[in-house]
Order: sequence, then structure tokens, then C-alpha cells
Amino acid sequence: MNTGPVDEVEFRALTAKIAAERGFGCANYKDGCLRRRIAVRMRARGSASFSDYRALLDRDAGEYDLLLDALTINVTKLYRDAAVWEAVAQQVIPKLWALDLPRLTVWSAGCSSGEELYTLAALFHRHAERSGTLARLRRVRIIGSDIDRASLERAQAGVYAPESFTEMPVELRRRYFSVDAPHSAAAELRALVTVERRDLLREPAPATDVQLITCRNVVIYFDRASQESLMRKFHDALAPGGYLVLGKVETLMGPLRALYDVVDSRERIFRRAAA
Ligand SMILES: C[S@@+](CC[C@H](N)C(=O)[O-])C[C@H]1O[C@@H](n2cnc3c(N)ncnc32)[C@H](O)[C@@H]1O
Repeated sequence: MNTGPVDEVEFRALTAKIAAERGFGCANYKDGCLRRRIAVRMRARGSASFSDYRALLDRDAGEYDLLLDALTINVTKLYRDAAVWEAVAQQVIPKLWALDLPRLTVWSAGCSSGEELYTLAALFHRHAERSGTLARLRRVRIIGSDIDRASLERAQAGVYAPESFTEMPVELRRRYFSVDAPHSAAAELRALVTVERRDLLREPAPATDVQLITCRNVVIYFDRASQESLMRKFHDALAPGGYLVLGKVETLMGPLRALYDVVDSRERIFRRAAA
């Protein structure tokens, strides 16, 4: 790919335009990642340069939406990376359930189309049901946030194609989703979930004293400074003893590590050290 001075100037002009017009703060994302994603759309539309593509965005709002879609990378699944959910079910939810608190707030940061939200809701519901404490579910609130409005609409709808379930144990799908495809999440799960648009890099956390934050497959696209400031935001939002689930591809860096105890090093589950 051309990375000469002209190309660099044109690339900056394009990313500045996207940030100004669509509120997607490209400056916080890794350049390589942005360039690869933009290149895919440029090839699809036969644009020879960043400036040609910039002009195309002015003429074609549909292409602008496709570009935003490509930049936000919304791929997800129910029970994605099953091992991390097994660990959450065994090591996190029972501990949270035992707390005598009027509210249990969970935040899925970068929830995309909501598969992670309904996975969490199913695990909490199953734990409550198995322990004969369903009435205590009323205290659970699972907040999903994402920057991408179209994904959030799908999260709100909670209806998924069969391909979204390939990693979820069949028993959970049968218990919590409609029999016919596309499968809709049961009302018991929907009652636990709320979604909201939130830019993780520019806006505050949706709540304080959060007991569990999951943020998976999101932070890898951010530059290092943005990763660190987001991890600090998570720390401030968590209650002492609250859990942070990062999953296999993300990790805690530098001085932030000292603020957490490691619960599961393989699945990257951390616990905010008590104050
Ligand atoms: C690959 S999905 C991750 C979905 C889910 N957490 C999972 O692991 O399956 C990444 C999500 O991060 C969201 N995202 C990217 N930048 C964001 C930002 N600055 N604020 C909030 N969400 C962001 C994207 O819109 C996308 O839906």
C-alpha cells in the first residue's frame, strides 16, 4: 500500500472527515487497522486514492454507512469463545450472586449486536434458577453499550440466526430462545438487558459500582494511549472486588496490572483489588 507523504496527507484528511461527520474518533485507532478496513471499501468501489474515496463519501451516503460498518467490526456470536463463559459461570457469577447487594450492575462494553448480553443474561438466569433464587434476579441489570447504532438496534431486538449459536451449548439455546429460527431471546432475558449508544473513548461509564465489566475484541483496535485510558475508566467504574473480563485477545498493561488480582490468567479475568 502506498504510504508516501501525499498518501499520508490524504489519509489524515479522510480520517478527520469521518471523525467530524460521523463521530468515529479515528485518531484513537491503530492506523494499520484503519487503513486495512478503508482499503477493503476502496477496492469494492474502485477508488484509486483516499481523496477519490473522500469525494465518493460526499456523493453516496450508503457507502458512508458501509464504511462505518467496516470500521466498527461488529462480528460476534452467542457464547463466543466458550471457555471464557464457562469460567464466568463457575468463577464469577456464584461469587457475585452471594453478595448481599440491592443491585448487581453488569456492563458489556462494545456489545455489538448483543449476543454477549444475552449470553450473560442466560448465565445469570440459569444460576438463579438452579439455586432456587429466581426472585433475586430483579437486582440484575445488564447494560450493553456500543458506538454503532445499527448494531444496537439488533441488540435491542434480540433475534438471531442459527449461525450465531454454533458455540452456545444447545441446552442454553433451547431454554432461552424461541424454537423457530430466527431465534428470539426469551422475555426473562430481555428483562435483564438494556442497551445504549456510548463511545468508550469519549464518554463516561454508564454506571458506577459496576460488579462485572466484559470488554472483549474491542480494545485491540485502539492505540496504546487509548487502551490505557479505557482500562483506567473501567477501574474507576468497578466496585472494589468487581470483575473485569477481557478474554483471550486483550490484556492489562503496565501499572494497571497492580490494581487488579488475577482470577483466571488464561481467560484474562481480573478482579479490582479491594480499596
Ligand atoms: C468485534 S465487536 C465485539 C463484540 C463482543 N464484545 C464480542 O467479543 O463478541 C467490537 C465492537 O466494538 C465497538 N466499538 C469500536 N469502537 C468503539 C468505541 N469507541 N466505543 C464503543 N464501542 C466501540 C464496535 O462498534 C463493535 O460493535
